[in-house]
Amino acid sequence: MNLISSDQLSKDQINRIMDIADSLKSNKEEIAIKEHSILALFFEEPSTRTRVSLEVAMAQLGGHAIYLDAQETQAKRGETIEDISKVVSGYCDFIAARMRKHKDLVRFADNSTVPVINALTELEHPTQALADVYTIKEYKNGLKGVKIAFVGDITTNTANSLMLTASKLGADISLVGPKDLAPNMVYFNRAREYGKVKVFSDISEGVEDADVIYTDTFVSMGKEGEAEERERIFAPYQVNNAMLEYAKPEAVVMHCLPAHRGREITADVIDGPKSIVFRQAKNKLLINKAILLYISQRE
Ligand code: CP
Ligand code: NVA
Repeated sequence: MNLISSDQLSKDQINRIMDIADSLKSNKEEIAIKEHSILALFFEEPSTRTRVSLEVAMAQLGGHAIYLDAQETQAKRGETIEDISKVVSGYCDFIAARMRKHKDLVRFADNSTVPVINALTELEHPTQALADVYTIKEYKNGLKGVKIAFVGDITTNTANSLMLTASKLGADISLVGPKDLAPNMVYFNRAREYGKVKVFSDISEGVEDADVIYTDTFVSMGKEGEAEERERIFAPYQVNNAMLEYAKPEAVVMHCLPAHRGREITADVIDGPKSIVFRQAKNKLLINKAILLYISQRE
């Protein structure tokens, strides 16, 4: 089983992964992966959380992880994704790949003899969305009827994966961003088949009565060339105390990280009492363990 897109997972599968995470958290059962399993991480872009949490997850489950900076492999000298995938999958039990282009991840998966996990592409970040819904469930006792306002760059990989995953669990999603910016319509239309997803440009309408305010960087990886323009158009959508006034008093603030204080979110909000971002980041370890176990149980 590969995990390439958030759309692959049914509501039952998402809940099963969250149940495994709960079992791990409460130490209810001794859960280990096949002894000496190897996860290769093939990363074309940098990472703090996804890389470390996957490496630690493998070590704690009794396996090992090998980090491959794509630029330090023969990919730098033009070796094809197909050849790399065929070779690396011959040595390992799983591969997690962070690719600049989603279509390259699909090529990687198509040529692999072992499960491939999407560790972020420009279109999706499925493991992040699973950690996100798990975190929301911890704070809001479930996702049903929970209103999530995703604010800022509503076209990001995290927005796409979160709207698919959270809508399947019954959350209502408001995508709140600049008037002329449409979400990725493939993901938007898909998510609307599962639940209530709406687009707003007006902050007071979009954030009204939100239970969760979620944001991401204004300049995602690969968009550095548009940084100046992006900072300008997204500036009004900064998550700050004035924005929080529109949300429910008990609303929580989330960010996939890395964050840019003073840009998409103010320092007092991300470091303040409503922020659950470091819990969210910590949950990536638990959920990545659960994902690895879930996939290995299906092999
Ligand atoms: N949230 C997340 O994926 O962070 P990294 O880019 O540090 O892995
Ligand atoms: N949207 C961000 C997410 C980082 C985890 C990016 O792609 O850079």
